[in-house]
Amino acid sequence: MSQLLSHFQDLEPTSFESSWKSPANIAFVKYWGKKGHQLPANPSLSMTLNECTTTTKTKFTPAEKLSVSLKLEGKTEEKFALKIHNYLESLLTELPFLNKLQIEIETSNTFPHGTGIASSASGLSAFALTLTDYLKHLRPEEDESIFLKRASFLARLASGSACRSVYGGFACWGDSEMSETTDKYATALSVHPELAHLHDSVLVVSGKEKNVSSTAGHGRMGEHFFANARYAQAKYHFTKCVAALKAGDMEAVGEILEAEALSLHAMMLTSPQVYTLLKPNTIAAMERIWAFRRETKLPLYFTLDAGPNLHLIYPDQFQHKIATFINHELSPLGEKIIHDKVGEGPSRC
Ligand code: DP6
Repeated sequence: MSQLLSHFQDLEPTSFESSWKSPANIAFVKYWGKKGHQLPANPSLSMTLNECTTTTKTKFTPAEKLSVSLKLEGKTEEKFALKIHNYLESLLTELPFLNKLQIEIETSNTFPHGTGIASSASGLSAFALTLTDYLKHLRPEEDESIFLKRASFLARLASGSACRSVYGGFACWGDSEMSETTDKYATALSVHPELAHLHDSVLVVSGKEKNVSSTAGHGRMGEHFFANARYAQAKYHFTKCVAALKAGDMEAVGEILEAEALSLHAMMLTSPQVYTLLKPNTIAAMERIWAFRRETKLPLYFTLDAGPNLHLIYPDQFQHKIATFINHELSPLGEKIIHDKVGEGPSRC
């Protein structure tokens, strides 16, 4: 049993309500492949966003048995309620009192469905934060300093990338050469002041639901011919990316961003059951970005999540020129653009 959940065995539930707003994050070094129970095959590193957030209110009421209801944008969503129900059942050994709760969740996203931005990191970190709040309510004497670690630990068990969203700025997750990182939860990473205000403008090439989920994609790494080479590459990129972020070296960060994005998608193209989430306009936009960089020498780089949409990353000091290029030259290749930037992390609301 994890130390973070070891003191909650003999608690009786009481009524409580908690509300949190939590952001999405974009991975600079990707988590792609798992081991054990929701543990990452390699360390990952991400930037927490500002505008793309989920707000979740959870009401905990003592009851005969565990039940979960969930409303997304005011509409009952049984699929998501079942997902949370299964997640809570998976925690019963450590948190047995969850079995005697009626849980009512109301949740909403600032980014509409169909923008291709995954709501799992923001949504499940927001829910994990309300659950962590509940644990604090039940054990108020607990040390405040472990609150975010525990929230990250609980978020990881719901969705890996969600564990990085509990911190503002940048976060690392997974065992690495850095002593403070661990597979169990994410930790915050401080970076050079010049890179502390990066932008992420998302070019939504397609907002359609993807046909292979991230969870299924992780599964396909299990029998991937290149899996071990990919994990070694991610470890190498992680160490280099941390060093470049700390040194304020945008060019080195940018090279890793693009190499990671293309490596992630190369894993899909070469997996035992081949597939791709890239669209022709994803490639067209990459080529325009490379040409723009060659011509202007301005530091605009892209990365990709498990989807066709480009996350365009650039420092604040070049915002004007780069945003003009994005709005004029890249926007015709997509359905819309969401201008976001690094954020301060979750907050109670
Ligand atoms: C490509 O966190 O969505 O976005 O743990 O199965 O819920 P589960 O997977 P998920 O995977 C995210 C993969 C990624 C890269 C990343 O965010 O690091």
